[in-house]
Amino acid sequence: MTLLTQRPAGQDTLSPNQQLLPLTAQANALDHLEIGGCDVVELVARFGSPLYIVDEVTLRTACQQYQAAFEQYYPGPFQVLYASKAWSCLAICALVSQEGLGLDVVSGGELVTALQAGVDPARIYFHGNNKSAPEIDLAIRTGVTLVVDNDWELEQVCRGAEHAPVRIMVRFTPGLDCHTHAYIRTGQRDSKFGFDLDALAGVFQRLAQRPAVQCVGLHAHNGSQIFALEHPQDLAGILVDWMAKGMAYGLPLTELNVGGGLGIRYTTADDPPSIAAWVQTVAKGVASACQQRQLPLPKLLCEPGRSIIGPAVVTAYTVGSSKVIPGVRTYVAVDGGMSDNPRPITYQAEYEAVLANRLGAAATETVTVAGKHCESGDILIQTAHLPPTVPGDVLVVLATGAYNASMASNYNRVPRPAAVLVHASEASLIVRRETYTDLLRQDCLPSRLAP
Ligand code: LLP
Repeated sequence: MTLLTQRPAGQDTLSPNQQLLPLTAQANALDHLEIGGCDVVELVARFGSPLYIVDEVTLRTACQQYQAAFEQYYPGPFQVLYASKAWSCLAICALVSQEGLGLDVVSGGELVTALQAGVDPARIYFHGNNKSAPEIDLAIRTGVTLVVDNDWELEQVCRGAEHAPVRIMVRFTPGLDCHTHAYIRTGQRDSKFGFDLDALAGVFQRLAQRPAVQCVGLHAHNGSQIFALEHPQDLAGILVDWMAKGMAYGLPLTELNVGGGLGIRYTTADDPPSIAAWVQTVAKGVASACQQRQLPLPKLLCEPGRSIIGPAVVTAYTVGSSKVIPGVRTYVAVDGGMSDNPRPITYQAEYEAVLANRLGAAATETVTVAGKHCESGDILIQTAHLPPTVPGDVLVVLATGAYNASMASNYNRVPRPAAVLVHASEASLIVRRETYTDLLRQDCLPSRLAP
């Protein structure tokens, strides 16, 4: 199978974000795709499809590579946070936490999931550009760090600090324009997130008069699915500059958070830098900027999401109908689509696929893989190279861990898929498949409409 054989040997040294397939992926004796020692065709027979399959080795390896690279390249304290917006569920939060990562959460729902998964509140950072009063309240009560995004939040936090200790960081927009899809670019000045740089001195001034609000550091994030290393490097310098200015106001700034954003390989054309290279860039950027200014090294935080969970997951579908339009195109339809993977229709995201039940078969056909939803744009892969398919084949779309399950919907009243964690030939259910009962659970039928 070409995608498998393209891979260099030595799985523990591979950076997961540079791989199309999970690290444990291989062909078994039946010529089926095997992940975590589990036959994907058997997993679909057992758990149904569509099915998110999470490879524990790949997920843990990504966490460990972030940790090891910080140890190697950053001489000061550090904390890697998993951006749980990429996929928040109990098992994934618990697993990354076991690896020593903290969590970035952006809603009350993600916060509750993190807490219930046993994540230490001291390692939880709460982001968002419009946290509600109950969310801010919950964050203060549970003792997590609030990343304050705007004036309105700052006011609420100051009021909250009259009753309980509040630990915050301040987020600002660094003014860096990164090359990625416009919807996932956040570093440029025209962004809804964070304080404008022009406003930052005023924020420092206000915080200096409010010692009850413990402002421990600064945060900025460039955007997502970024391959270039100059952006994280520039960001490191900007953060240190502003840390120096904040300290001049007397703020106890000891933490800098460079955000996330490292891209992953979705198609063979993608060539992102490794986790180690990204960490080395930000670590050296911050360390040398501090050295130049003779500042103590801050605790360095980062918050990767996509590069942690993205490459660890594949989505297995069952092939159903197909439509051949002579001279135009062949559509092959699967039993999911934009409801379990809204990224192609939202960001024109590209993916690659393999047939799990005939892994070695030559990819002699060029087809369009369509979803089952009533929407023409519900296309998972515009141009897929596959062996000839028949109904019942198990088609696997690669690198689907980040922002797929987390942005999944019930469009067309389609139940959301199950997810399994695979490791050492064992598969554990981590998200139960939705049922029709689940779909109806929130509906209320006024009695005058009852049948
Ligand atoms: N930190 C902050 C403040 C963020 O806004 C994000 C992503 C991250 C960290 C994690 O970035 P990552 O390492 O995953 O690139 N739904 C879009 C992606 C939206 C990203 C939102 N923020 C997609 O499917 O591509």
